[in-house]
Amino acid sequence: MKKPTRANHPPAVTLPAGNRALVDPIYQSVKFEFDDVDTTLAALRGKQPGFFYSRVANPTTRQLELLLAEMQGRDDAIVTGSGMGAVATVLLSLLRQGDHVLGFVETYAPTRRMLQRILGRFGVTLTLLGIADLAGVERVLAARPTRLVLFESPTNPVTKLADIERITGLAHRHGALAVLDNSFAGLHNHGQFDIDLYIHSLTKFASGHSDVMGGAVIGRSELMRTIRQDHILIGAILDPHAAFLVLRGLKTYSLRYRAMCDSAQRIAEFLAVHPAVGRVHYPGLPSHPQHVLARAQMQDFGGVVAFDLAGGPGAATAFCEALELFGLTASVGSTESLVMAPQMLKAHDLTAEEQRLSGVSESTVRLSIGIEDIEDLLADVTQALERAQA
Ligand SMILES: Cc1ncc(COP(=O)(O)O)c(C=O)c1O
Repeated sequence: MKKPTRANHPPAVTLPAGNRALVDPIYQSVKFEFDDVDTTLAALRGKQPGFFYSRVANPTTRQLELLLAEMQGRDDAIVTGSGMGAVATVLLSLLRQGDHVLGFVETYAPTRRMLQRILGRFGVTLTLLGIADLAGVERVLAARPTRLVLFESPTNPVTKLADIERITGLAHRHGALAVLDNSFAGLHNHGQFDIDLYIHSLTKFASGHSDVMGGAVIGRSELMRTIRQDHILIGAILDPHAAFLVLRGLKTYSLRYRAMCDSAQRIAEFLAVHPAVGRVHYPGLPSHPQHVLARAQMQDFGGVVAFDLAGGPGAATAFCEALELFGLTASVGSTESLVMAPQMLKAHDLTAEEQRLSGVSESTVRLSIGIEDIEDLLADVTQALERAQA
């Protein structure tokens, strides 16, 4: 064999029987082969197990799917290239022309925009309510056939809670699917509810290290089978290397999430009594209007703390810029603490009334708490509040 040929057919290295890698290898291969056509066709037709083409299935992404399904307590998962890839996969595979969707003003803005801008072109309509408006949910579902109710809890950024049991019950009573974007609460929360589909942005707490994007749809087998048929055609897949990074992140998910919640609670309590701070939005505070609901439906209260600066928008900007350990950037759930200023949180697609309903003010700041030492984080918040007051 000449060298260019050998370079394309390198020597095989197989592990002897009884010898395993402690960390599974990344199957960074688009293609998989069998020795003959009949076996290949049997695998392609699902008559025998096997892999063929990574847009359809890949051992590394499949390992991640199986793990995520178990962590969320459901039958199966599909992983996607981003959280929005998961949202798109769900919407494009379940909605038909003319369908109606119930969403909320607190829903992640790109999800709202996908429904309005992309699905709207196919005649899909969207009604937006406030997440606490259960009477409105009942009224809208009774008035219009609705394909799905899409919601989040806690909501972004001011950590309102959806009453998951009530919303899910209302959706099912009126023949709609209950779809929960569980990215903020995490894979260990909300498994006890009769949710049809969970959506996750793996970019956040699941992977945790700000170095990989991913998404997941998790649910029961029949629904997932239907979605997978379309997912393979839509092609919003996760690359095996990205899946490996998410798998690696998940090894420390529980430790990271617990540490973030502990620090978030300390910071929320500190902010709640600080004179430069108006209102603090954190479900773990007894002053949170849904603290009792949070205790009942969540195992913990999350790593996101929002608050309003008493000194108004100028003080909020000064606070964000004065922080030294918090990155002034998007997303939540990283090992590094992050901050978003009011101007970055403003939802321009909402009407003035919807913006008021969302509870985000001109002086609202969102903190995503990382795993740095809590004393360092408190010292940084303290000095930034002092500078914001100056
Ligand atoms: C609640 C929620 N859902 C979905 C997404 C989208 O995830 P990604 O950025 O991975 O596409 C985000 C991102 O911030 C989010 O906060």
